[in-house]
Amino acid sequence: MKDSGVDGRIIELFRSGDGVVSGAALSRLLGVSRTAVWKHVKGLRASGYLIEAVPSKGYRLLSSPKVLTQLDLSAGLATSRIGTSIICLKETESTNQVAFKLAEDGAAEGTVVIADAQTAGKGRLGRIWLSPPGVNLYCSVVLRPAIAPMAACQLTFLSVVAVARAIESCTTLKPQIKWPNDILINGKKVAGLLNEMNAETEKVNFVVLGIGVNLNLDMSSISESLLRHPATSLLQEGGVEVDRLAFTRALLVELDRLYDVFLREGEAPVRAEWLERSAIKGRSVKVSQGEREFIGMVQGVDSFGALLVQLGDGKVETVLSGDVAL
Ligand code: BTN
Repeated sequence: MKDSGVDGRIIELFRSGDGVVSGAALSRLLGVSRTAVWKHVKGLRASGYLIEAVPSKGYRLLSSPKVLTQLDLSAGLATSRIGTSIICLKETESTNQVAFKLAEDGAAEGTVVIADAQTAGKGRLGRIWLSPPGVNLYCSVVLRPAIAPMAACQLTFLSVVAVARAIESCTTLKPQIKWPNDILINGKKVAGLLNEMNAETEKVNFVVLGIGVNLNLDMSSISESLLRHPATSLLQEGGVEVDRLAFTRALLVELDRLYDVFLREGEAPVRAEWLERSAIKGRSVKVSQGEREFIGMVQGVDSFGALLVQLGDGKVETVLSGDVAL
């Protein structure tokens, strides 16, 4: 559980209770005076929390700010590594860029950077990632695993599976994984992952897991010419608005669980789940690597995240990069 100060603990108490929390209880549980409780409530209101004062009963949290806040995300977050520090920004060029700089300056493992909007969201292969405000999730997580640079691509399995699990826990939709790092719903891309690494020859200094999920994006507001692949959002596919806070908290918890498994047991269990959820295992795909294109049958992924594609002559090609189409 994260220590996010008195404000964070107040939010946590509002959440864990079933309605009104008395000023006396807050003061006792927080170990501060009633006046201090009142000052904190005032401060929270100024930050956009709607807190009702119920006469002679106490306080009740009616709503949180529309943007994701560190307090809401941290309150009672049941993680051991992910979210040790959470930074929420209104707008930035790219959360990956911010997280990378923070990591270079020594940010701890588990540091999370979230932005409501990105002005230069980065996609794979130098593409842009559309990042309008108020609707989606743009998130980057700093990890510092003691692994060799070659093994860092295994971390993609973590974020992909974590996003798939979070989608399943917050919606009734069935996500499918497409190599290397796309998540599809009904064949359309709903999320993308971009890992960036800082390493020496022998060891990884840190990896930034970049996670973009189209949650409540109104697809009709996006010009098709801006989309490389058929794209969608959870709202578009499920017809119901997704609670951004609940989704983000679920994602951080899943990421924490999977990272724990990765550190204790290695990549195999996470890769096994990746494969199970994969949309392309046993299917024929077209692989494009710049000028080169070929068709083959997907056999699986190796422990370094490379796609194994069997060609017509029976030879198995190890695909390390490129685009794959069904
Ligand atoms: C892809 O092309 O599929 C990868 C998209 C990754 C987008 C996310 S949004 C959060 C993080 N910050 C970025 O600039 N990119 C990643």
